[in-house]
Amino acid sequence: MKKKKALITGITGQDGSYLTEYLLDKGYEVHGLVRRAAIEDPAHRMSRIYHLLDRLNLHSGLIENYASMYNVVARVKPDEFYHLAAQSFVAESFEDAFSTLHINIFGTLNALSALKELTSDCRFYFAGSSEMFGKAKKSPQNEKTPFYPRSPYGISKVAGFDLTRNYREAYGMFAVTGILFNHESPRRGFEFVTRKITSHAAKIKLGLAKTLTLGNLDARRDWGHSYEYIQQMYAMLQLEEPEDMVIATGETHSVREFCELAFSELGLNWEDYVHVDEKFRRPSEVELLVGDASCAREKLGWKPKIRFKDLVREMVLADYERLKKELSIERGII
Ligand code: GDD
Repeated sequence: MKKKKALITGITGQDGSYLTEYLLDKGYEVHGLVRRAAIEDPAHRMSRIYHLLDRLNLHSGLIENYASMYNVVARVKPDEFYHLAAQSFVAESFEDAFSTLHINIFGTLNALSALKELTSDCRFYFAGSSEMFGKAKKSPQNEKTPFYPRSPYGISKVAGFDLTRNYREAYGMFAVTGILFNHESPRRGFEFVTRKITSHAAKIKLGLAKTLTLGNLDARRDWGHSYEYIQQMYAMLQLEEPEDMVIATGETHSVREFCELAFSELGLNWEDYVHVDEKFRRPSEVELLVGDASCAREKLGWKPKIRFKDLVREMVLADYERLKKELSIERGII
């Protein structure tokens, strides 16, 4: 049987790297669209997929450039397209709203338009976000909850959601949005609060840092594990009918609770090290997110296995082991 072809944007990121492993294991031919700069410096910029490079097909280009997108879709003619690439850091979207809106909205439009022109049978997954709910009118949030985005990033994701729905309705394409709540792992970028906490806790334990400075400790999020979430992206594209879906654990915890747990895993009291600085607060904050994933539970059989406590433990221990190893190499012990 002919191998199925998947094209992934954002393949070098946390979700992209796990999804690549997952699809390769399923026998897919996997293609990725990456920036030229990443290809020039694979050890750093492609560290999450470095171990997979000989099993992948990478194409250089920019998602926000229609010609790049058109050319890669024409070359690959994918069966499934996972559009994960974005300027995904909410705080940065306040600093540079123009780039965030440009990259995120045009990236999605370019992908949908190229698919429509070249291979409209391809199944399309758009990485939506619980940030679209923003200042949510009700909790928990599900597919029927009205959007109220609170950042340029959230606004760009609402636009992507609407574009995806419009291509589905106007052109009959199998195009869906996964409304994923926060999902983390040891591969998470260091600027996001979970990884910032776990990497700093590990540094403090090893004597490499003294303090950790954060913003809003009261913000609450529904945190799941990335590896489980990417499996739901795949499952959404295997359904008979296209449907947008919320993926979440249904549990919510504060940034404070995350700190408490992460530090205590390493035998530390978080209050001795964590400081608050207003500069890490956002001009308009999303205070509370918690998802109702009953639709995914029913249609995909979704049930999170990795709980909050296990997620925090996995992340903090991974950072601790990584730093300990780096220290030993530096000191010539290994
Ligand atoms: N990054 C960061 N750094 N966040 C902080 C800090 C800090 O020092 N201190 C407090 N926070 C709070 C933020 O204000 C926010 O309320 C919460 O921690 C989580 O912030 P992030 O980890 O940056 O994630 P996010 O919720 O804004 O967005 C993430 O999840 C979305 C899904 O809901 C990103 O991955 C988005 O791309 C994703 O769509």
